[in-house]
Amino acid sequence: MSDLLDDPVKALTEYVSFPSVSADSSFSDGICGAREFATARMKDLGFSVETIGTPIHPVLLGTRGNPSWPRLVIYGHYDVQPPDPIDLWSSDPFAASVRNGRIYGRGAADNKGPQIVHMCALHRALKKNPDLPLHITYLIEGEEEIGSPSFRPFLEQRKDQLAGDMLLVSDTGSPGSDQLVVTTGLRGLTAMEVKLTGPKQDLHSGVHGGALRNPLQALVQICSTLHDESGKVSVEGFYDDVLEPQAWEREELNKLPTSEEEYQRFLGVPRLSPPPGFSALEAIRFSPTLEFNGLGGGYQGEGSKTVIPAEAFVKITCRLVPNQKSEDIARKVKSSIESACPDSIKVEVELKGGGDPYVVIPPGKPGSSGDESPLLNKAFPLLEDCVNNQFGTKPIYLREGGSIPIIRDLQEVAGLEALMLGLFTNEDNLHAPDESFNLKIMNRAIDSFESFFLKLGEDS
Ligand code: BES
Ligand code: MN
Repeated sequence: MSDLLDDPVKALTEYVSFPSVSADSSFSDGICGAREFATARMKDLGFSVETIGTPIHPVLLGTRGNPSWPRLVIYGHYDVQPPDPIDLWSSDPFAASVRNGRIYGRGAADNKGPQIVHMCALHRALKKNPDLPLHITYLIEGEEEIGSPSFRPFLEQRKDQLAGDMLLVSDTGSPGSDQLVVTTGLRGLTAMEVKLTGPKQDLHSGVHGGALRNPLQALVQICSTLHDESGKVSVEGFYDDVLEPQAWEREELNKLPTSEEEYQRFLGVPRLSPPPGFSALEAIRFSPTLEFNGLGGGYQGEGSKTVIPAEAFVKITCRLVPNQKSEDIARKVKSSIESACPDSIKVEVELKGGGDPYVVIPPGKPGSSGDESPLLNKAFPLLEDCVNNQFGTKPIYLREGGSIPIIRDLQEVAGLEALMLGLFTNEDNLHAPDESFNLKIMNRAIDSFESFFLKLGEDS
């Protein structure tokens, strides 16, 4: 047994050293290394661990305790985003480096640091009370950053092993080291790729220009029909199922220490442009979007090239809010694109999947069902208390703009409701160069979760 979990920075440094990029098969050694690291730490904590193969990257399932005890499931992902563009990193993305109260490295915040927080806190709690009467199931997957394609079939197969009274997740954000957020919802997602085809090959734009429609021109025309002037999505029926935020949610948002001006400066834009009826800080949480993530075709090299390209493409994702459905929105956007396409151009819209939005109403807030599990009912106020003791402020309760589609799957299939404490911040540069994790948050969160685990297990 190693004592790595006595030293969170050392543990995280080692975890980061495995380049577990799920999107790129040339990183399979790193994926394997990260998986072995997580397995070894779970074993250090006294868990028995099973590695379950999937078509892409295996899932880890760890368990400890007696199944008759209150049952907690803890989720994390051992995979990370690609480090590119590597040139823009100030230090090696897979050799963690501590500077100015932060630890830098790919995955430091998303999601290796928060996992180390849970593990170090559990380590301390179990040292104090080795017989802590909590049944804990660790669920650590390796495909989160590629949309968890293997997760749903895995879940259907293993749902009995995932039965529990609640789910604990730290894979969301907070404003800073003095104010944490308990995440009460995640946006859903739907992804698609659009391919337009014109002539059978690239053409000389002088010899043939004027005779036919250019696919790139058709592409930008189609794209421009998908939003109106105000920035709202113009796809028919897009907003049909959108639930208005509750009054208490808008009140919680007012407690955010961030102002619109600060946020605008952080983004480096001359002005924010939320859709009508929302401030920018509201829009990222309460409002759905349709975004162009990548677009291309034709000549991309230096200088000019007089060509009519044969093809053009655009990659689109929509972020969805309750009660929009991923498949329904995908269908609506697809048909809107198809009908906007001139008939001289061939259009193919390939749907790339996604997931539905998730929402949990904290016990006691208006609209909560009142029949949540006793463990969940205990956990929300308990975590609020533990965070308040370490951070000096109570967490605020907010839905989040990002997506973790499997949280909704776990709710639907295993009946688990999630308590999510956000541990990363905007300054952590998720998915970008110089990703880092704030060490003050890390240390305060370990202290918070140590007492959370101990008290959650007490006489329950
Ligand atoms: N941890 C993030 C999700 C997240 C980011 C939640 C910011 C809250 C705030 C997660 O690892 C992630 O990036 N998810 C992807 C999901 C996609 C690949 C299906 C996302 O949101 O883009
Ligand atoms: Mn994540």
